Amino acid sequence: MADLKILFEKALDVRLKAYAPYSDFKVGAALLSSKGHIFTGANVENVSYPCGTCAEQSAIAAMVAAGEYEIEDMVVVADSKNLIAPCGACLQRIKEFADSKTKVHLADLTSIKKSLFIADLMPFAFHEDLKK
Ligand code: THU
Repeated sequence: MADLKILFEKALDVRLKAYAPYSDFKVGAALLSSKGHIFTGANVENVSYPCGTCAEQSAIAAMVAAGEYEIEDMVVVADSKNLIAPCGACLQRIKEFADSKTKVHLADLTSIKKSLFIADLMPFAFHEDLKK
């Protein structure tokens, strides 16, 4: 069982390291892999705006670099009155490494406010099995 408080605190910590001078909107993500390891990521912006990367994307890259490919839980933290959910592209990225039990937890700076299955966030996702 994931210790969601630890995952939340890791997301909060890494959010402070985000590089977001253009939007001034820092996002932190922390995921728990099926092997019980935590990987974190923050958004990294660029003066050429489309080159920026999302926090979720960075956390997934860290997991894959460690040779892991299964997400159990992911916490996403931002400083926003309105809860932020992963963008569409990041939902697709999370889904690649998710199963039916994978949960995404949406948080502000104080706590997790909402927990959803990936299928709730992306009910009609592209899932053609191109992987042979
Ligand atoms: N951002 C994320 O890191 N994750 C999301 O789920 C939504 C948006 C980042 C991208 C950009 O650096 C900033 O937030 C404003 O959109």
